[in-house]
Amino acid sequence: VNLIIADSELELVPPEMAKHPQVKESAKIRGKPATEILLDSTNHFKAIFGEQRRGRPDIVHVCLLLALDSLANQQGKLKVFVHTRNDVIIEIHSSTRIPRNYNRFVGLMEQLLLVGKVPPEGTPLMTARKGTLQKLVDELGKKAVIFDENGKTKRIGELHLGDKTVIIGGFPSGDYLSKADGQKVSLGSEQLCAWSAVAYALSSLEL
Ligand SMILES: C[S@@+](CC[C@H](N)C(=O)[O-])C[C@H]1O[C@@H](n2cnc3c(N)ncnc32)[C@H](O)[C@@H]1O
Repeated sequence: VNLIIADSELELVPPEMAKHPQVKESAKIRGKPATEILLDSTNHFKAIFGEQRRGRPDIVHVCLLLALDSLANQQGKLKVFVHTRNDVIIEIHSSTRIPRNYNRFVGLMEQLLLVGKVPPEGTPLMTARKGTLQKLVDELGKKAVIFDENGKTKRIGELHLGDKTVIIGGFPSGDYLSKADGQKVSLGSEQLCAWSAVAYALSSLEL
């Protein structure tokens, strides 16, 4: 099974926000140039104002902790990808130990987005490259199932995600920014956080 956390709100501070006082302050505290730190709505909410869904690396953090610890991943049946709002595709080796601590996770993602791989030397555990969601789905070559509240309602026992590419939105509100071919499924009219959708999707593989 392939899992893609899609349109994730994970990005380095964009140049147009780099001069905002709130961003400059947090870059100073981190001791890094503003464009080399992750945009984070907790610290940069004034700079982000008007685009409330941006700056949510925490969503990716929790989703990755869940996915990489899953039975499917530990049994070598899962491949995890993160696709971001800027069309960066992050590929994660199944043996990667995602830092439990959020600040350490942020540092790792900053390094990944700047250098393109972590660790920078030797066999990488994570790589980052440019690519659209549709291109990734095509490359993976399996039917895509897109988790979407507006999709066809199914119970988790009816999902049948084995041998599919599962797409879950890595954003806090609004709709997918990217289009991808696939079957849209909903777990019901209740709105779930991305990590809950990941948990249900991976649990369904065990039924
Ligand atoms: C917080 S939701 C995204 C925002 C949501 N569209 C909203 O209006 O708040 C994050 C992701 O979780 C998944 N998700 C949330 N609720 C779901 C549901 N009821 N059924 C299936 N997937 C769901 C979708 O993949 C969605 O993109």
